Amino acid sequence: MKKCILKSEALTKYILETNAYPREHPQLKDLREATVNKYNEKSTMSVPVDEGQLISMLLKIMNAKKTLEIGVFTGYSLLATALALPDDGKAIAIDQNKEAYEVGLPFIRKAGVEHKINYIHSDGMIALNNLLKNERQEGEFDFAFVDADKENYINYHELLLKLVKVGGIIAYDNTLWFGSVAPSEHDEQVEDTARDALRKLNSFLASDSRIDSSLVSIADGLTLCRRLR
Ligand SMILES: C[S@@+](CC[C@H](N)C(=O)[O-])C[C@H]1O[C@@H](n2cnc3c(N)ncnc32)[C@H](O)[C@@H]1O
Repeated sequence: MKKCILKSEALTKYILETNAYPREHPQLKDLREATVNKYNEKSTMSVPVDEGQLISMLLKIMNAKKTLEIGVFTGYSLLATALALPDDGKAIAIDQNKEAYEVGLPFIRKAGVEHKINYIHSDGMIALNNLLKNERQEGEFDFAFVDADKENYINYHELLLKLVKVGGIIAYDNTLWFGSVAPSEHDEQVEDTARDALRKLNSFLASDSRIDSSLVSIADGLTLCRRLR
């Protein structure tokens, strides 16, 4: 088991160093470094470089123009998104903690993509419900990225199925939760509400006939859901 973990850590390092870092946009790199300097261990909340590149690739393949993000932190995934959108694209970004966003904002500005971002300082459920009060927002979004309170993912799902267009993608981050979603003999000794919520979400998504879904085992797990109807 230990050997397996070591091998996977070495592989992750290899993938980042040989494949991901050389292609990282300079402002993403600077934002990432500023996040580490300010937040130390907590900086691992940002999506890693290879996952940012996967999101960017998806957006470009889809020709996405309008995106939603819940859980911005200092803005690594948001900057990756904004860079992938066309010049008239729009990314609505929601977070209840604006202080972290201020750390990333200078890099977003320097990258020349601030005009594509509409930052909403709010709780995620409140913000999505407000968007839904405006009928013109229904089915308007090509892509949604959810990286906030895990306990609410299942509630975000219902609202996002209205906001994202048929054929659009909803992506849920951390669906492997450091591997802890897999059953283990220590389960009952360790209380983890996020793990329990993600297990429920994973089972729910697997049988939700309104979507196609695929759990990609990149970083901490990214589940892609394509709206079918
Ligand atoms: C894992 S971090 C997001 C990382 C970000 N996607 C990135 O790549 O840098 C989670 C963020 O979700 C925000 N958050 C947690 N609960 C929330 C809620 N109920 N509504 C809005 N934002 C929330 C936190 O403030 C935090 O900034």
